[in-house]
Amino acid sequence: MDEVGRIFGDVGLGAFQLSLSRPIERGDYLAVEDELHGLVLCQLDSLNRKSDLDMERADALVHGAETPIHENLIGVVQVIGYRENGGPVKVPTIPFRPGAKVFRAEEGLIAEVLGLKKHADSGAYVGLLRGHSLRVELDINALFQRHMSVLAKTGGGKSYLLGVIIEELLRHKVTCVIIDPHGEYGSLRFANDKNGHAERFHVQPQGFASKVLEFSPDTTLNTGARPLTFSLRHVDPRDLLVFMGLTNVKNFMGPLRKLLEEVQAANPDYTIKDLIRAAERSEGGVLETIHERLEYVDQTRLLAPQGTSLSELVQEGKASLVNLRGIAPDVQELVVARIATTLFESRKKNKIPPLFLVIEEAHNFAPQQGTASCSRILKNIASEGRKFGLGLCVVTQRAARIDKSVLSQCNTQLILQVTNPLDLKAIAQSIEGLTPGMTEMIQGLPVGTALVTGGGYQTPLFCEVRPRATRHGGESVRVVPN
Ligand SMILES: Nc1ncnc2c1ncn2[C@@H]1O[C@H](COP(=O)(O)OP(=O)(O)OP(=O)(O)O)[C@@H](O)[C@H]1O
Ligand SMILES: [Mg+2]
Repeated sequence: MDEVGRIFGDVGLGAFQLSLSRPIERGDYLAVEDELHGLVLCQLDSLNRKSDLDMERADALVHGAETPIHENLIGVVQVIGYRENGGPVKVPTIPFRPGAKVFRAEEGLIAEVLGLKKHADSGAYVGLLRGHSLRVELDINALFQRHMSVLAKTGGGKSYLLGVIIEELLRHKVTCVIIDPHGEYGSLRFANDKNGHAERFHVQPQGFASKVLEFSPDTTLNTGARPLTFSLRHVDPRDLLVFMGLTNVKNFMGPLRKLLEEVQAANPDYTIKDLIRAAERSEGGVLETIHERLEYVDQTRLLAPQGTSLSELVQEGKASLVNLRGIAPDVQELVVARIATTLFESRKKNKIPPLFLVIEEAHNFAPQQGTASCSRILKNIASEGRKFGLGLCVVTQRAARIDKSVLSQCNTQLILQVTNPLDLKAIAQSIEGLTPGMTEMIQGLPVGTALVTGGGYQTPLFCEVRPRATRHGGESVRVVPN
């Protein structure tokens, strides 16, 4: 085995100091022999170069004097643990001895302790362990039951990685509904024609044209999509209030119900225009508000005589994209509120297959501060969805701005580069087992490398995201050609 240095100083159970005899990189996996349990997997968490050069001698160097410098590379190493016969990861109960040899860990030990199976075809294959050829596969059941989040600054590679995950879900015939505010995911239909490092990752270009359904409330702008509408007759007064953006149910429910009854009695095939006319004729402050909000709903064109049916929207083993490109933010919220509520209620009654609900730009739909009309239902799904086979995936560039109760329910987290200190703090608070070194490493992650926590793994690990089999729809726009 390849020795990299020796343990020195006070030795703890969870971490120790390492004097390095050769340079290695932060995040590298190491091994130390434990007297009782054999090789134990460890990871270099931080590096420091210590020297005896003081200020005066440094000054002398500036003035051309020669002075010998004694220096040492010192590391702090976290102990990950060992496994016995495929059992859980355990940490030795007696600290290692000072002076003990530290080796570079071999792939067999890394795979065994981290729980990485070699070329297994189960799970969602998201990439390779950084610097190795070991596959990182997320346990799809864990994603479902414990929810998931994808966090990174803008341009950090969230949508790319989410595309990878959706490809995997589709391969495993998992039903998904994706709230797509920028209309980025339609490209899942097409095979990736610029698949750079596909060989190392063993990824073949593949399109999912027959498995991707796209809907949009605005099909003039989003031409490839089917219209997404809600039928007025199937929208009960409470939902209509949601569409109208009226949260004070107590004030408005009675008058709205009365109005609906009146109009329905006159014409069972009533339209939103009939409702508007009836509200216009009525008097009173409450009805004026109702009138104004009904006109607003009419403008959104969300209500149609025949709304999109649930069986059209959710199809087993397919991904339904809800393309909200060009839709006003408050209308987007209404659509998400309505869809999320319908999916949750229908899952409770087992009317639709278990499914994964993906919310892109989730800080807008479940904000920590302020309100969004869909916030409450998303919080409900985050806390109770798993009981009913409704998995939630939230994607955001602002971890600090998404509702904390939603974020804390996501037990699988995929974190790409994050630099904002508030976002880093929010992430550090919501993840167990994140070391100070890892939090620092998140700030310098290159595009395409993610920190994976959960997903069936007991230890956080860094993963090089595999290339997409499908085309990525969120390419950064070049203003000046290069
Ligand atoms: N794993 C990867 N391999 C190669 N290129 C990548 C990878 N991840 C991201 N990119 C590239 O980086 C750019 C930004 O990626 P992406 O659109 O996923 O960012 P984002 O985090 O979703 O940003 P935003 O918050 O603005 O939506 C894209 O041009 C994409 O092609
Ligand atoms: Mg994106």
